[in-house]
Amino acid sequence: MAKIIVANWKMNPQTSKEAEQILVSYLKLVKGGRGKVKSSEIVICPPFVYLNSFRKKLQTPNSKLQIKLGAQDVFWEEEGAFTGEVSVKMISDLGCSHVIIGHSERRRYLNETDEMINKKVPVALKAGLKIILCVGEHHRENIHEIPKVVEEQVAAALNGVQKSHVGKIIIAYEPVWAIGTGTPDTPEGAMMAAVLIRKTAMNILGLAAKNLPVLYGGSVSALNVEKFISHDGIDGVLIGGASLDPEEFAKIVLSANS
Ligand code: 13P
Repeated sequence: MAKIIVANWKMNPQTSKEAEQILVSYLKLVKGGRGKVKSSEIVICPPFVYLNSFRKKLQTPNSKLQIKLGAQDVFWEEEGAFTGEVSVKMISDLGCSHVIIGHSERRRYLNETDEMINKKVPVALKAGLKIILCVGEHHRENIHEIPKVVEEQVAAALNGVQKSHVGKIIIAYEPVWAIGTGTPDTPEGAMMAAVLIRKTAMNILGLAAKNLPVLYGGSVSALNVEKFISHDGIDGVLIGGASLDPEEFAKIVLSANS
């Protein structure tokens, strides 16, 4: 299966000019490896305000790269008086095929709860978007055991989701302690989490969730990406900091294709 590489730019960079510069340099760098690059699915999730200009850049007739656009969040109501929020229709209209839901930074700083995440999931799926659902524990006391909270987050987010939507669900295991710290989980730890996540998803969505893509995220870099994606059970990576450096991101994408 083609590996899925997702770039989460978070609240970076600060101007549209810089954002376009990063995208343009990145596109130039991966052009040389065009033939190989088509074997992975690349999704770039910039801040909402850059989506429109990115869509235009990614749709140029010469762009043979299949780079998809994703949003970093979405609201659960479809329209109305919800100041500051962004709807599924708005992001679809701007060319997004994917949306990140439940990132730990939103859980932490915006007090997003499992219940709120569970309201966003079906709305995004119904709109035809692919969701990248993020789960992960704050601390791990026993390195040989994935904390129960990971299972609980998956179960809560997918509660009530229609089985027919299984093909549109991607789950990213992002242990909070590994995000932005330079200390990633071990590939074995990520594998254990992926097994638990798929098992939990299968309890809700049935056998079809057996091949549900599970990504790893947390301090992924060009130096360590290979260790994660060389495992069959890890279907790709969700990258923060390293995805803002075009050279580093291009290296990651190329190693996922080698
Ligand atoms: P870093 O790659 O910067 O650790 O961030 C991971 C992440 O939160 C991606 O969503």
